[in-house]
Amino acid sequence: MKKKLVEQVTAYFTEQFKNAPDHIFLSPGRINIIGEHVDYNDGFVLPAAINKYVCFAVSANADTKCTIIAKDLNEFYSFDLTDELKPVDLMWVNFFLGVLQQLKDRGFAMTGFNIAFSSTVPMGAGLSSSAAVECGFGYALNKIFSLGLSKQDIALIGQKSEHTFVGVNCGIMDQFASVFGKKNKVIKLDCNTLEYEYHNADFKEYALLLLDSKVKHTHLTSGYNDRRNEVEKGLAQLKQYYPEVNTFRDLSEAQVVAYKEELGDVIFRRCLFVVREIQRVLDAVAALQAKDFTKLGDLMFKTHDGLSKNYEVSCEEIDFLVDAVRNDENVIGSRMMGGGFGGCSINLVKKDAVNSLIERVSKEYKEKYNISLKAYKVKIAKGTTLYKA
Ligand code: GLA
Repeated sequence: MKKKLVEQVTAYFTEQFKNAPDHIFLSPGRINIIGEHVDYNDGFVLPAAINKYVCFAVSANADTKCTIIAKDLNEFYSFDLTDELKPVDLMWVNFFLGVLQQLKDRGFAMTGFNIAFSSTVPMGAGLSSSAAVECGFGYALNKIFSLGLSKQDIALIGQKSEHTFVGVNCGIMDQFASVFGKKNKVIKLDCNTLEYEYHNADFKEYALLLLDSKVKHTHLTSGYNDRRNEVEKGLAQLKQYYPEVNTFRDLSEAQVVAYKEELGDVIFRRCLFVVREIQRVLDAVAALQAKDFTKLGDLMFKTHDGLSKNYEVSCEEIDFLVDAVRNDENVIGSRMMGGGFGGCSINLVKKDAVNSLIERVSKEYKEKYNISLKAYKVKIAKGTTLYKA
């Protein structure tokens, strides 16, 4: 699949620009085992890069002209490197312009370039196709123009460009996972210090299965930023009661519960979810190390319920998908994944029951919502790379 994607993008670039590309880069999408909506709350997350990629064919130009072609959308965007960069209506273009602006702000010397790209990371499915584009592009320019950026710089540049050119005040998880991904490893990332460690992603007789609700998260931008504002308010209030507290990391559940009335129902539930989710990630890592997958799965269900009822970022269709597997003896964990308001659920399923499960849930989902479910049997893969120089 990866090879085919590379071949197609290479041929397409050659046809469009009348020259073969000088470089090919691959940048993966991501999953997250647990630790949702806590990356911007100084928590821990447990993501991994997957074997779905954005592939970039790139050549540098001698002048300052730049052209980017989105093969899958049959759209292109041309501009001059010296132009003042501003967000544009074509959303995918902003992923590139945001990164470029960051590099221009840092005063890097670059020339123009031609790019053609195509993706096997489904868009709007909660698999971070946008982070894959941002990081792949940043990684490509770093290599081609020898900018000397570290992997961490590339991830942070991707995150910042999402804030400035896309309008989502995202955390660092997606970009970090895309760049730092390692085959068969999940990354335990401390979102406060950016320290990280790899853990074996060996779930023994269980496989990871994503079920795509096909509900596109249209409320993601607004809903996501609203949640950020709510928890920010909550933390500020809690800091008044507990002067020693700096971040959500320093708070216990009991400390949040003690000020339930003062926080008000909504802010209280948001804060409660955050402190519980931070703890759940630590418990999940311990369960993973102990190979206690039943425990890990149970934590995933708890995360889902928290995201759905207290953080309120799920949606009816995703709740349906999680409920559909809750009492299935072959499924030990399930929850919505990513920003929410649609996208995928992530499931831990007995390997030999994966196909029959897809069949059953697809039928039930179709009957209920008249939507054809998509299922992805993902593998954990390496982060952003130069595939061919
Ligand atoms: C989106 C954001 C991430 C993270 C998740 C929720 O994917 O880009 O930074 O906040 O939502 O965990």
